[in-house]
Amino acid sequence: MRVVILGSGRGSNAEAILAAEKAGRLGRARVVRILSDKPDAGILALGEKFGVPARFVDPAPFKTKLEGEGEQRFIDAVRGCEPDLVVLAGFMRVLKPGFLNAFAGKIINLHPSLLPSFPGLDGIGQAWRRGVKIAGCTVHYVTPEVDGGPILDQAAVRIEKTDTLESFTAKVHAAEHELLPAVIARLSEE
Ligand code: GAR
Repeated sequence: MRVVILGSGRGSNAEAILAAEKAGRLGRARVVRILSDKPDAGILALGEKFGVPARFVDPAPFKTKLEGEGEQRFIDAVRGCEPDLVVLAGFMRVLKPGFLNAFAGKIINLHPSLLPSFPGLDGIGQAWRRGVKIAGCTVHYVTPEVDGGPILDQAAVRIEKTDTLESFTAKVHAAEHELLPAVIARLSEE
């Protein structure tokens, strides 16, 4: 199963996926490309570390969505990898029908909350401010409804009285680093 990872940030989840692959824990999946909409994103440095081609793709002209010329550049870049699965690992742009239809049924996203609670930006901060006691993360298929597609799997995290926003954030990230590679491995065996 050929996997393309899209991300905008530090890439800790992409690193967890690549480390799982290296350790033989990613089933029949292999990461063939890392693409980012941010030229200086940490995720791009993983390419060299793990020997996977990684590059910036210009998302212009829009700031928070992928549409128009930038969308077409991403479609071309992803299509060139002949992916079986497109993994959004901290890709902070809303995907539009052009991209979604080009890879229909093949795009999954990681979100740092127990959906359908706390969709959108800053799922961790939203859960923290709401004072929930059980939080977590979700991997789901991507559809036009933001963070609204069919759920593949979730992992729960308990917020203790002693937690701070920082310690809670670390717990969610640790849960994400287990969940996302496990879901990819499972999909690769289906
Ligand atoms: C992750 O916590 C992921 O759940 C979140 O971005 C972070 C990326 O971290 N994604 C979203 O909020 C998507 N709406 P990383 O770059 O270290 O993998």
